Amino acid sequence: MNNIAIFGYGIVGKGVRDVIDENYDEFCVKKVFDLPSKRDVLGNLLETDMDKIFADKEIDTIVECMGGDELPHEIICKALKAKKNVVSSNKETLSRHMKEYLDLANDNHVILAFEASVGGGIPLIYPITIQNEFDEIYTINGILNATCNFVLSKMQKEDMSLEDAILLAQKNGFAEKDPSADLKGLDMVRKGNVIATIVCGKELKNDEIPHFGIEKVSKDIINFIKDMGRELRFVVNITFLTKKVSLVVLPIAITPKNPLIHVEYDNNGVLIEDKHNGPITLLGKGAGRYPTASAIMQDLVRIQKGIAFPYEKVGPYQKIVPNLTGSFLCFKDDKFITELVSPTQDELLKYDFICRIEK
Ligand SMILES: NC(=O)c1ccc[n+]([C@@H]2O[C@H](COP(=O)([O-])OP(=O)(O)OC[C@H]3O[C@@H](n4cnc5c(N)ncnc54)[C@H](OP(=O)(O)O)[C@@H]3O)[C@@H](O)[C@H]2O)c1
Repeated sequence: MNNIAIFGYGIVGKGVRDVIDENYDEFCVKKVFDLPSKRDVLGNLLETDMDKIFADKEIDTIVECMGGDELPHEIICKALKAKKNVVSSNKETLSRHMKEYLDLANDNHVILAFEASVGGGIPLIYPITIQNEFDEIYTINGILNATCNFVLSKMQKEDMSLEDAILLAQKNGFAEKDPSADLKGLDMVRKGNVIATIVCGKELKNDEIPHFGIEKVSKDIINFIKDMGRELRFVVNITFLTKKVSLVVLPIAITPKNPLIHVEYDNNGVLIEDKHNGPITLLGKGAGRYPTASAIMQDLVRIQKGIAFPYEKVGPYQKIVPNLTGSFLCFKDDKFITELVSPTQDELLKYDFICRIEK
């Protein structure tokens, strides 16, 4: 029996408990850490003192699905030091402290796993990690924010305005009350960081990743791009160069030949190009209670089977090179102004909305 403690009984945490209770006799949720207000729902399963969980010798793995950074950082560090395996869906804390977490996991001979932190239910972190062991990955292009992809699909396929599409995303539970971090690209900065770190094995800083958002996209811009025979996708673009990693989060006007054209609504998708086996496309649900719980179960089952995660200690900090090669369409007040070739970040920041155009 594998005894688990879940930290955070929200959308994801409840999903993990449901899936374990319904499908997995070999796992047992022994405790749930959350606020005292959850006593009515959780009864004796609720534990509000985290140290009691870390001291419990019967609990071997904790699942952290609280969100944020400060408290999860404390929880993950304490859990690893107490020799508990840690499964986390929290890209915010992982993207900030990956090196510290992996070092602690290695030093304490336990496993840190985070399949659910990027791409919702799509098996992505583990396959990329394995692929990276055997092949040389050149680029990864990921549509990794379900809210933004849903909004862009509604605007492009159903002629909806940005405001209406956001409202609908909120109504359907995809978008947060304040969706600005998603629309600005900050969520994809964190997810891009997690993927890039496991591939290049170096510590990367979120605040060095350039990001150009979609807050100012409009129907006029969408129609302009449609007239060029292209569709917008909001993408994190990672390129691995010799001793360098190049990253940017930005909208790209893609042609119908690009496999990411099939990533629509609340789906996520990733296109991987490598030396011997490419391109590989992974596509599926990018968020939601049960897709995310399913990704957490993948980690739990691998830990239970003793499948080693080939993450090594993350090497020292590496500066990120902004990836701004190619042609960019630049808009102000919903109007096309100019096309710039391989511009600087400062040149692009003068406009309300920019997108790279796939030739
Ligand atoms: N939702 C998704 O589809 C999805 C997909 C992939 C990854 N993730 C990631 O998974 C994590 C959890 O997401 P979620 O959507 O499940 O969030 P959520 O619904 O807000 O759940 C978080 C839970 O933690 C509890 N909590 C917050 N602060 C606490 C504190 N100080 N002490 C104890 N408990 C506390 C919350 O209680 P209250 O509700 O009372 O505040 C809530 O029960 C995040 O990192 C998110 O980015 C989510």
